[in-house]
Amino acid sequence: MKRISFIGYKLSAIGAIITIGLAFSSCSKLQNNVLAPTTYQVGFHPTGWAEVSSPNFHGIYLRQNRWDLSSCMTCHGEDLKGGTTGTSCYSCHNGPEGPLSCNTCHGSSLNPAPPADLSGDTATSAPGVGAHQIHLAGSSLSIPVSCTTCHIVPQAAGPGIHPAGTGTATVEFSSIALTPTNTPGSRFYDSTQVTVQPTPVFDPQTLKCSNTYCHGDFTGGNNYSPAWNGGSSQAACGTCHGIPPNTPIHQGQTLQTCFLCHSPMIGPDGTIQDSTQHITGKLLLYGKQLESW
Ligand code: HEC
Ligand code: HEC
Ligand code: HEC
Ligand code: HEC
Ligand code: HEC
Ligand code: HEC
Repeated sequence: MKRISFIGYKLSAIGAIITIGLAFSSCSKLQNNVLAPTTYQVGFHPTGWAEVSSPNFHGIYLRQNRWDLSSCMTCHGEDLKGGTTGTSCYSCHNGPEGPLSCNTCHGSSLNPAPPADLSGDTATSAPGVGAHQIHLAGSSLSIPVSCTTCHIVPQAAGPGIHPAGTGTATVEFSSIALTPTNTPGSRFYDSTQVTVQPTPVFDPQTLKCSNTYCHGDFTGGNNYSPAWNGGSSQAACGTCHGIPPNTPIHQGQTLQTCFLCHSPMIGPDGTIQDSTQHITGKLLLYGKQLESW
């Protein structure tokens, strides 16, 4: 009886692999919709172990037990392909990495970032979800921001590798978030202005990021501290830097004059024309993107 239903899972798994391509091109370690069982039999595990809607669902158990898959490996095999049980995790978790796919425990078929977060939340007001997708996709305001800007990204998942079992994500900034400004020797160095070397931090209590270059920790900027789950108001025009910014050359400038020195990023009407030239770590000035400023 069991054998037959497991074959059923396998056939539908193959179908799913063929019909749905991987949407997240830069990471092949994603799975598509995990198949729900077509039938359920009472067996080794508690009733409901394979049913998403049951309080005994194995996903809930794992969430409550530090996502520790090593406990499953004793019977289902080190490779999770069946071991002594004859039941492979891959029969339902049909991605190339099975349950070790980057979006099994967090994320979606789009990418491994929340939503869903580790608690299963999907609303952007949830701390684990927050502003992930707007950063990753980019917007009318900014170029896309990659995971590595805010996290150290694991190359693989599995016991002893990832997750660490701390239950909370580590936010560690790199690259653009640390861009220094008004550095001595740079083309527009102004000795009357401060040199800024950002030291970005995320506070898990207040859910705010501070001292990031991206949100204005630069010479003449506002060093704004946006709330991660505060919504689009946290990136309104004028939050990161004033209109105009606070340096001598900007005195008296208005939204309608920015284009004189910063086109084609911004147009004569004060709207952003090319978001790929904004929040890049490079100042666009007199038609050139400056490597340092
Ligand atoms: C002590 C051995 C043992 C351990 C440990 C174990 N399993 Fe199993 N599991 C089995 C056996 C045997 C079966 C097949 C018989 C059955 O369905 O009960 C099975 C079946 C399953 C099934 C299919 C259930 C169904 O009805 O289709 C799932 C899902 C599963 N295990 C998940 C897990 C997860 C997740 C873990 C780790 C948290 C785990 N197992 C740990 C022995 C084990
Ligand atoms: C009978 C089909 C089936 C088998 C076999 C199975 N799973 Fe699952 N598993 C599911 C479904 C369905 C989900 C929910 C997917 C979703 O919500 O998108 C899930 C979710 C999970 C989750 C994520 C939980 C969460 O809430 O985010 C983990 C981790 C997991 N399974 C591990 C395992 C491991 C390890 C094995 C093998 C020991 C296994 N599964 C075997 C069907 C299965
Ligand atoms: C702009 C910065 C930023 C980027 C880019 C980013 N994250 Fe995050 N991530 C955060 C912050 C902030 C948190 C919230 C931490 C907290 O709640 O303590 C977080 C939390 C998480 C969590 C834990 C969710 C939870 O439920 O607690 C996961 C998993 C995660 N990120 C994965 C990713 C992945 C994968 C990517 C890329 C695909 C990514 N992140 C890109 C900033 C970022
Ligand atoms: C078995 C569940 C599980 C799988 C599979 C998984 N993660 Fe995670 N991930 C977590 C948990 C839990 C956290 C929270 C931090 C912790 O406990 O290590 C996390 C956190 C993260 C974070 C935030 C930074 C950090 O480490 O705190 C990133 C980025 C991330 N995961 C990326 C990935 C990638 C990429 C893969 C695939 C290679 C992956 N995850 C597979 C459970 C998982
Ligand atoms: C999330 C923070 C943030 C917000 C919000 C923001 N900016 Fe910026 N802006 C920056 C950063 C950072 C720079 C520095 C140059 C770079 O990194 O591309 C910048 C530079 C500029 C420049 C100089 C030209 C350039 O692109 O280098 C202009 C003009 C400008 N912003 C206009 C605007 C306008 C207009 C708005 C509102 C629609 C706005 N900014 C909202 C962060 C922001
Ligand atoms: C007359 C030319 C000129 C105009 C007009 C101008 N800028 Fe600038 N902008 C500069 C120069 C030069 C710099 C290089 C650093 C400096 O001197 O402030 C700069 C730098 C910046 C920076 C980087 C941070 C900083 O303060 O140095 C931002 C952001 C910026 N401009 C935004 C704007 C916005 C928004 C407007 C319109 C309200 C505007 N600029 C109008 C010449 C101009």
